[in-house]
Amino acid sequence: MEFDLTGPHADDAYRILSSLVTPRPIAWITTLNEDGSINAAPFSHFNVVGDDPPMVMFCPSNRDDGTPKDTALNCRRNGEFVVNFVDESLCPMMVRSSAPLPYGESEITREGLATVASNSVAVPRIALAPAALECQVHDILEMGNNRLIIGLVQRVHVSDALIDPLTKRIHYHPIGRMASPDWYCRTTDQFSMPRPR
Ligand SMILES: Cc1cc2nc3c(=O)[nH]c(=O)nc-3n(C[C@H](O)[C@H](O)[C@H](O)COP(=O)(O)O)c2cc1C
Repeated sequence: MEFDLTGPHADDAYRILSSLVTPRPIAWITTLNEDGSINAAPFSHFNVVGDDPPMVMFCPSNRDDGTPKDTALNCRRNGEFVVNFVDESLCPMMVRSSAPLPYGESEITREGLATVASNSVAVPRIALAPAALECQVHDILEMGNNRLIIGLVQRVHVSDALIDPLTKRIHYHPIGRMASPDWYCRTTDQFSMPRPR
């Protein structure tokens, strides 16, 4: 089958692309609300896109009524966010935190999640996350209903048990996002294939 996303199949773009471009990493993003409470929401339109400077991107779409999601609002106002990584044990809490709450109502408080102060940004990270990135917003590009947020990674936190201090290789099993809305995958079945040198 062929789909013309510039014309007749434009309304299918999300269903087709989110089933096809998988598995996607999940960024459980914390930001600060205007009253100082902590907002948390997952985003799978997310990836690392460079290391010099170290850059990540994620992309909140607007809500159906055209208004920005709380995460996008907070990134624009404060210019900071933290990417918290998610393993299977955190998956239920991460999914519950995607429920639309009124602005200022904290998913962190609702889930009873402990947080830890960050070092380079005011936004705390989630204590149970196996790893986290403290980020400063570099730019926000608005394209249609998307707000592409580019962040510069300031600090990386990794649970000591997961990292080989010599090679810096991190051994962990994040979950990945598969077809929307409810599918995920495990990353427990990994293999190595050396590159030609
Ligand atoms: C695993 C997962 C991945 C998601 N990825 C995205 C995404 O990339 N972009 C987006 O706009 N919404 C995404 N969502 C939905 C948001 O998390 C949801 O709209 C949330 O309420 C936004 O919260 P906020 O208003 O506090 O920012 C995702 C939800 C889940 C469960």
